[in-house]
Amino acid sequence: MNLQGKVALVTGSSQGIGQAIAIRLARAGASIVINYRSHPEGAEATLEQVKAAGGQCQMVDGFTVQADIGMVADVQRMIADAVAHFGQLDILVNNAGVEKNADFWDVSEADYDAVMNVNLKGVFFAIQAFVKHLRETKQPGKVINISSVHEELPFPHFAAYCASKGGVKMLTRNLAVELAPLGITVNNVAPGAIETPINTKLLNDPEQLGALLKNIPLGRLGKPADVASLVTFLASPESDYVTGTTFFVDGGLLWNYQEQ
Ligand code: BGC
Repeated sequence: MNLQGKVALVTGSSQGIGQAIAIRLARAGASIVINYRSHPEGAEATLEQVKAAGGQCQMVDGFTVQADIGMVADVQRMIADAVAHFGQLDILVNNAGVEKNADFWDVSEADYDAVMNVNLKGVFFAIQAFVKHLRETKQPGKVINISSVHEELPFPHFAAYCASKGGVKMLTRNLAVELAPLGITVNNVAPGAIETPINTKLLNDPEQLGALLKNIPLGRLGKPADVASLVTFLASPESDYVTGTTFFVDGGLLWNYQEQ
């Protein structure tokens, strides 16, 4: 997959899946805008690996930008900074996400807002700012949203998270149709259980982890690199005819049902 001459912005790329995506896209030749909220040291680590992944390719460069994806003004500034730095932006990967575990009846307005603002509102306005740039410059583009198996699958005690990911599913379908005339494709990648900081608690609880592994037909958790390779395909011209759909990277978790 060749992304030489392209610029990709990956939100939440100071750790986890976002970091792996940034590095993988750089390996394919893209320059990367690395977004972080509160871990500049993570963003610097990504930047170093992006530069190393670019290797001999002089064209590959990286740039870090702080922004809270839950704040629309931050999101708009982030896109403007990316365009100002590289003079172009071709690929937007909406990866940043948060989840909060609570019984439905205990969810506070602040927790609901924290989840919805990053996972849905921030994605909405990041795409909007990206699309304005593409329209102005008359360029095509690729939007890849990192959703979750929970855009389909209920996740008790994570009601706001599920609502946000279900929202991203419909946003993707809607925008795929509305933005197609502009040459912009919009797709979701929906990870299952991946080894990342978002589920540190689960990874450290042998009982919970054992129960989860029983639900995964391929018998292991995913790795950030499992997600990153699919994102690279969706970012490349190889996927030009693909839009409005979700790709699950979940080891078979979503459709697993067994009686014993
Ligand atoms: C969540 C994880 C969860 C996984 C599988 C992901 O979307 O972020 O916390 O383990 O889905 O249920």
